[in-house]
Amino acid sequence: MDLLPEIARRVSIRKYSDEPLSDQQIERVLEAGRRAPSAKNRQAWRFIVVQDPDTRKGLEEAAFGQEYITEAPVTVALCTTNIEYKMPNGQLSYPVDLSFAAAFMLLQAEHEGLGACVVTTFREHEIKSLLSIPYSMRVVMLLVVGHPDEAPEPPARHPFKRVVSYEHW
Ligand SMILES: Cc1cc2nc3c(=O)[nH]c(=O)nc-3n(C[C@H](O)[C@H](O)[C@H](O)COP(=O)(O)O)c2cc1C
Repeated sequence: MDLLPEIARRVSIRKYSDEPLSDQQIERVLEAGRRAPSAKNRQAWRFIVVQDPDTRKGLEEAAFGQEYITEAPVTVALCTTNIEYKMPNGQLSYPVDLSFAAAFMLLQAEHEGLGACVVTTFREHEIKSLLSIPYSMRVVMLLVVGHPDEAPEPPARHPFKRVVSYEHW
C-alpha cells in the first residue's frame, strides 16, 4: 500500500468513542515509536502508556481540561531520558528525537484506523508528579490515541511551491 495517501488522510482527532484499544494495537503504535530514528541512535526516550481512568483525568487537568484526553482510552507521555545531548549542529537532540517517535506513532495509529492527537499544552510539572517522572527529565508531548468519533477534513497545507525550493532558498 502507498504510504502517501495515509499521510495525507491523517488528521488530529479530538473526539473519541469509548471503545477500548486492543493490547496489540497499543503495542504496534509503541513499536512504531521504538523503531524511529534518533540522533546517534541514542534512543534517549521513554514512552509511558497511561490507561488508568484516574490518571487520565489527572492528565486532562494538567492539560488545562482538554476533555478528549479522558475520552480516549490511551495517552502516551513521550519523555526524554537525557536533556543535554547536542547534535554536531549545536542543537538539542531530544525535541527532534521525540518528534520522530511521535510522527511514527501517529502514522501507525492512522494505519490501524485509529485517531490520535499530539498535545503540548500542559503543565509539565503536574504530569511529572502524576507519572513519577524524575525532576530532571522532560515530558516533550502527550499522544492521545483511540477510536475516532469525528471525521474532520485534513486542514490545508501551504502549497508545494511555498515550502519547497531547489538548489537555493
Ligand atoms: C508540536 C505540536 C504541538 C501540538 N500541540 C497540540 C495541543 O496542545 N493541543 C491540540 O489539540 N493539538 C496540538 N497539536 C496538533 C496540531 O494542532 C495539529 O497537528 C495541526 O493543527 C495540524 O492539524 P492536523 O494534525 O489535523 O493535520 C500539536 C501538534 C504539534 C506538531
